[in-house]
Amino acid sequence: MKLPRQFFKPLAIGAPQPLTELPVNLERMIHFLPPHVEKMRAKVPDMIPNVDVILGNLEDAIPADQKEAARAGFIELARDNDFGSTGLWTRINCLNSPWILDDITEIVSEVGNKLDVIMLPKVEGPWDIHYLDQFLAQLEAKHEIKKPILIHAILETAEGVNNVVDIAMASPRMHGMSLGPADLAASRGMKTTRVGGGHPAYGVLADNNGNDTKRDFFQQDLWHFTVAKMVDACSAAGIKAFYGPFGDFADLEACEAQFRNAFLLGCAGAWSLHPSQIEIAKTVFSPDPAEVKFALRILEGMPDGTGAVMIDGKMQDDATWKQAKVIADLARIVAEKDPDMAAKYGL
Ligand code: GLV
Ligand code: MG
Repeated sequence: MKLPRQFFKPLAIGAPQPLTELPVNLERMIHFLPPHVEKMRAKVPDMIPNVDVILGNLEDAIPADQKEAARAGFIELARDNDFGSTGLWTRINCLNSPWILDDITEIVSEVGNKLDVIMLPKVEGPWDIHYLDQFLAQLEAKHEIKKPILIHAILETAEGVNNVVDIAMASPRMHGMSLGPADLAASRGMKTTRVGGGHPAYGVLADNNGNDTKRDFFQQDLWHFTVAKMVDACSAAGIKAFYGPFGDFADLEACEAQFRNAFLLGCAGAWSLHPSQIEIAKTVFSPDPAEVKFALRILEGMPDGTGAVMIDGKMQDDATWKQAKVIADLARIVAEKDPDMAAKYGL
C-alpha cells in the first residue's frame, strides 16, 4: 500500500499537483454523444447550457471502423467550444483494446487543458486506475497540463464489483464511479437483455395464506445491491457515485423510477443517452423543493447543529441536521446554475 505521505505527490515531474478535494460541480446528468457524427457535434453549442456534463463516447456503441473518427470528432468539439461551467468528459476505450493508447495520448496532447474527466470502462481493480494515473501524469507533464485530469471508473464487471472499495481509493485522481448495468449483467451471467431498469420476473410473491385468491407480485430492483455497495465505497473515499445508462428511451417513467432510486440511495447523477433523459435527470437529481424548505427549517432550528428540536411533530437532532445539510448544500449548487430552481427553493 502506498504511504499516506506519498499518496498526494504528482506521479511525474512537472505534472500538476493532485487534488485533495474534488471540485464542487453539479453533475446531475452525464450526457453521452457520438462524436463521429457531424450532426451531433453541431448540436454541442446549444447543448452546453442545457446539460451539466457533455461526454464524447469513444467506446461501446461506436462501430470499430468509426473509432478514429470519433476520437478526432471529440478533439474537434473540445477545441471548438467554450464549455463554461459545463463539464467536458470522454469515455475512452477499455484498457485491452487496440484504440486506448491513441485515445489517451491524442486527447491529452490536443485538448488536455479543456478535459475535466476521463471515464474508464470495464475497470477490474485498482491496478487499472494505477496504470491510467501514472500514464496521465507523464502526459500532463509533457504537455504542460494545468490541472489534473480526473478518472471516473465504470463498475461493470463482477471482478470490479468485488474490488469496488480498492478502486474507489486507488488514486487522488478518482472522481467517481458509474454503474454499468449492461456489461455487468453479462459479466455476472444475469439473464436479462435490458440496459438497466427492472425485470418483470424479478420480484417477491406474496404469501398464499392457504386460499386461492390471486397473489400479489412485487417487482424488485435488480440493481439495489450494487448501487448501495458502490455508494458506500464512493462515499467512504470522498468521491461520487452515479447510476449509468437506461436503455429503453420510450419508457420515461421507468427511467425516472430507476434514476430516483439511485438519487435516494446517494448517487449524484446518471447518464443521459437521449435528450428526453436530460429533463428526467434534471428533475430527479435536483432535490425536491418541499424537502429543501424543510431541510432549511431544520438548519435554522438548530443553528450550531446540536441538541434536539421538534419541527412539525418530527424529532430533529445532530444526525437529521446532517441529513438536512446534504439536501441544502445540493440545493445551493443547483440554485447557482438554475434560477428557476433557486426561486422554487427560496434561495
Ligand atoms: C455501460 O457501459 C453498461 O455496460 O451498462
Ligand atoms: Mg459498458
